[in-house]
Amino acid sequence: MSASSSSQFPFIRMRRNRRTDWSRRLVREHQLSVNDLILPVFVKEGDSVVEPIDSMPGVNRYSLDTLVDFVGQAAQRGIPAVAVFPVTPTERKTEDGDEALNPENLINRAGRAIRQAGIDIGLIADVALDPYTTHGQDGVIRGDEVHNDESLAILAQQSVVQADAGYDIIAPSDMMDGRVAAIRVALDAGQHENVQIMAYSAKYASAFYGPFRDAVGSKGNLGKGDKKTYQMDPANTDEAIREVQLDLAEGADMVMVKPGMPYLDIVRRVSEQLRAPTFAYQVSGEYAMLNAAAANGWLDRRAVMLESLLCFKRAGADGVLTYFAMDAAEALQAGV
Ligand code: PBG
Repeated sequence: MSASSSSQFPFIRMRRNRRTDWSRRLVREHQLSVNDLILPVFVKEGDSVVEPIDSMPGVNRYSLDTLVDFVGQAAQRGIPAVAVFPVTPTERKTEDGDEALNPENLINRAGRAIRQAGIDIGLIADVALDPYTTHGQDGVIRGDEVHNDESLAILAQQSVVQADAGYDIIAPSDMMDGRVAAIRVALDAGQHENVQIMAYSAKYASAFYGPFRDAVGSKGNLGKGDKKTYQMDPANTDEAIREVQLDLAEGADMVMVKPGMPYLDIVRRVSEQLRAPTFAYQVSGEYAMLNAAAANGWLDRRAVMLESLLCFKRAGADGVLTYFAMDAAEALQAGV
């Protein structure tokens, strides 16, 4: 009996639904849209600066003036929000990262400049001390440890200063215990009860952050140090659920898993079990890998960009922080 002459086998043909483009579109379970994209941007001192970052092809450091233009373009493309990261001049870094509390520091001036330009886009401020400390750690060091509770007070104050500057979402990436509650209390006391908190809840001590630390200039500060006493062990998954539960209980409005692609199992568990707005960060190292392969002609950049972002949606993410955001928005606009 040959398969072609039999009406019995294969009776169920999974390929039927895949035969035509219209049919594939009809049965598609998940969709990537521009509304899923958050664009991380780097800001530095100067005028008219658009400075490429070697390890992140296509990503630049901007001065305030060029940043405002770039964020304006992001808004025009329909990107809902940008996450701002400052490159703090070396001479402004200190042991305790006091520059984080300066209302006139780079990130705060950037927030004000974007707000004053009247650009309709969500503004996300990263809260952690690593851009401001001489040792590159996310909190302050007391004795031989990154001290949790002393860091909390500073992070809470940092958040209020950023909200004052016009940020809509405070995004603590420091992984200190209790920071979401500390920040919520401080924001509310500062009349910022409508400012949202997007917590980097399940943030792992990952080697995929390398290019980011180049981009903001904290790599040299951190040196041979690591962040394993506060960022999570890549071996753990139940612990991620506890971290997310705690942040939600402390008042987080949205939670995040970071890195992204190697941690899609965590994205799935978090979105399924906690059912809160869940974001994933496709981090600098992931972006660098895909671009390096594309630059060698080994991968199709546009195709892997869109596929990787769609995979976040399939895993259950409500949105993705990605350095591809501008290119992806453009590709989605053009229709794929
Ligand atoms: C700072 C921070 C980091 C990233 C986002 N916020 C680096 C780190 O924790 O060392 C990484 C982002 C990326 O790699 O794209 N706390």
